[in-house]
Amino acid sequence: MKLTTELSAGIDYVGYVDYNVRDFHSYDTRLGATYNSYLIRDEKVALIDTVKAPYAAQLQRNVASLVELEKVDYLVCLHSELDHAGALPAMVKACPNAVVVCNAKCRDMLAGFFDVSDWKFQIFQPGESLSLGKRSLTFVNIPMVHWPESSIAYMPEEKILFSNDAFGQHIATSERFDDEYELPKILEEAKSYYANIVAPYGKQTLKALETAATLQIEMIAPAHGLIWRSHIADIVKVYPDWASGKYAPKVLIVYDTMWQSTEMMAEEIYAGAVEYGQKLAAENPGERKLDVQLMHARKTTLTRVAAEALDAAAVAFGSATLNAHLMPQLGAVLDYFQGLKFREKTALAFGSYGWGVGGPEAIQKRLEILKYPAITDAPIRSKQRPTPEVLEECRQAGAKLAQAAWDRYLADK
Ligand code: FEO
Repeated sequence: MKLTTELSAGIDYVGYVDYNVRDFHSYDTRLGATYNSYLIRDEKVALIDTVKAPYAAQLQRNVASLVELEKVDYLVCLHSELDHAGALPAMVKACPNAVVVCNAKCRDMLAGFFDVSDWKFQIFQPGESLSLGKRSLTFVNIPMVHWPESSIAYMPEEKILFSNDAFGQHIATSERFDDEYELPKILEEAKSYYANIVAPYGKQTLKALETAATLQIEMIAPAHGLIWRSHIADIVKVYPDWASGKYAPKVLIVYDTMWQSTEMMAEEIYAGAVEYGQKLAAENPGERKLDVQLMHARKTTLTRVAAEALDAAAVAFGSATLNAHLMPQLGAVLDYFQGLKFREKTALAFGSYGWGVGGPEAIQKRLEILKYPAITDAPIRSKQRPTPEVLEECRQAGAKLAQAAWDRYLADK
């Protein structure tokens, strides 16, 4: 069985397709994942990145199917996170003549994970090239995309960018290239990947994109998912939008509910936003339509909420009151938003209670921490079932959020 794929003569994918992973340090990998590793056979032999530790044997088998392991000269490590470096100790052992090639920060990070005392290192400086014979690799540091030591490698002779986490997606498939899989699905997963993994580092991503723009690229070989060769323009076009937090005309409503009172409020906010969106569509023919998303925090995952939130211009958070506080999963959503540092969004807090305060009030306070301007000074609250007056307030708030999202979208166009 051949589990390697040729990118170009002497350059092969030798990684591992993980169909079973569903939780990738809290990321919901609903479609599985791949850990891409690339073997370059030239006058010198180099392996770019490895796989997670449990799949070291599969990586070794793939490499050994193309070249004797004793002939591997370089084990290039672009990123020390263990989905790429986990199998590095096994490869160092299996390839006795190989030198580990990485930047100085990466070496320090590797030393924090493994006993590297008997590893041979070759440390590259940013912009330095490594000749492999007819081909070479030029290294560029891209700090914080995704860790401080992250780097990429460019092969000018083949115009291939080995981009590590950048441009990746979590999709397990036997296909390797972007023109062999549904493009909208690849882009959707690339967006989710960006929102959940790279979003806090938008500025650094924009800087890395500036560097990439100076290169002639015919193939982007990321460390996760499909390899870009036919749709490079599609991914390169959307990445700056994601990195700069460009607004879509989108309202996101996320809530958790105990006995459906908060859910009734959420649905009324949704209805108000949808109705207002229809009015905007009638007034602005040919324009994008307002997108309104309603998500129950416990019936989806943080990963999906973040993917929807990335470009949302307005957001409403709702929670029933539990133990005089938020419901836990809505708290998790707000915590997650705090870490992901999305661009500012117009916001609303709402929720219900039985006899004391807690849920909606806690959300209002969290909006201040998130620095999201709220459309109301106090949360919209409902004592148990919402009255017609409360529902009307929710409907109007939905319309206000829709207008705010529309204004932000237009200002960004
Ligand atoms: Fe795919 Fe940051 O590791």
